[in-house]
Amino acid sequence: MSIDGPPILDTGEAQLSEDDFQRIARIAKAGWGLNLDPAKKPLIRSRLGRRLKAVGLTDFKAYCAVIESGDTVESEHFVSALTTNVTHFYRETHHFETIETEFAASLAARAKAGHRIRIWSAGCSSGQEPYSLAASLLAVLPDAARYDVKILATDIDLGVLKTAQSGLYEAKTAAFPTPQLKARVFDPAQEPAARDIAVRPELKALITFRRLNLVQPWPFAGQFQIVMCRNVAIYFDKATQKTLWERFSEILAPDGLLFIGHSERIPNPPELGLSPIGITSYRKINAKN
Ligand SMILES: C[S@@+](CC[C@H](N)C(=O)[O-])C[C@H]1O[C@@H](n2cnc3c(N)ncnc32)[C@H](O)[C@@H]1O
Repeated sequence: MSIDGPPILDTGEAQLSEDDFQRIARIAKAGWGLNLDPAKKPLIRSRLGRRLKAVGLTDFKAYCAVIESGDTVESEHFVSALTTNVTHFYRETHHFETIETEFAASLAARAKAGHRIRIWSAGCSSGQEPYSLAASLLAVLPDAARYDVKILATDIDLGVLKTAQSGLYEAKTAAFPTPQLKARVFDPAQEPAARDIAVRPELKALITFRRLNLVQPWPFAGQFQIVMCRNVAIYFDKATQKTLWERFSEILAPDGLLFIGHSERIPNPPELGLSPIGITSYRKINAKN
C-alpha cells in the first residue's frame, strides 16, 4: 500500500494539510512575527478549527484567505488562537522587588523633582502585570498621582484588554504570592461576598490601556524608565526577537530598566547597550558613561 501526497491531519471536520500549516505559519510570521512550532500543529489545528466553525467555514484554505484579506476582527481571533494570555499578579515577583528598589533609590526623587516617569507593560494580557506594577509604584510612592508618573499597558488582543480595562477579576482565580501583595491590589473588604473583585481605583488611575502590535511601528517617541515585556517574545522567531530587544533598548531612557520573561534571553546585551542586572533584568547603559 502506498500513501500519495502531503500528510493530512484529521480534525474531525476540517483537515489541516502541511501546505495549509505552512501558509498559516507564513501569515502569522508576516503579520505578527509569530514563530509557529510544527510540534504545536495539533494544538493550532484544534484552536483554529474552532474559529473555522465560528465563521462557518469548512476548510483552512478559505480561512487563510479571510485572514489574508485583512479582516481585522478575524485577525484578532487568529492571533488570540495562536498565542496564550496566561498571566498572574506579581508573576516573577523578583522583578517587582527590583522596581521597588529602583523607585526608592532614584525614580521617586526624580518624580518629585518634576521629571516624567514612564513605564510600559508591553504584552500586558488581561492586566495583572500593569496592576502589579502600579501597586509596586504606590507602595514606594503613595502620592504618585501628584506627579507625572504613568504606566502604559498594551496588547494586541482586544479581548484581554477589555478585561484589563475593567479591572474586574474573578475572586477565586485572583491568585497572589502573598496576602500582603493581594491587599495592595484589592481592598480585602470586598471579599468574599462578590464573585468579581475590583482593583483599587488608585491603581487604575495610573494606567492607560492601548492596543498595539509590537512588531509594527510604535506610535510614541518619548523614552521609558521601565519596560516590561515578559513571555511575549517567546512566540517570535529569533530575528523578530532581536529587532524587538533593539527597539526596547532604543526607547529606554539612560539607566532605564528592561524586564523579559523567564524563558527569554537577550543573546549579547552589551551589543544592544544593555547591562544584565539580575535574572532576565537589564539596565540601559548610559551613553555618557
Ligand atoms: C503569555 S501573555 C504574557 C502576559 C504578561 N506579560 C505576563 O508575563 O504575565 C502574552 C501576551 O502577548 C500578547 N501578544 C502576542 N503577540 C503580540 C504582538 N505581536 N504584539 C502585542 N502583543 C502580543 C498576547 O496577546 C498575550 O496577551
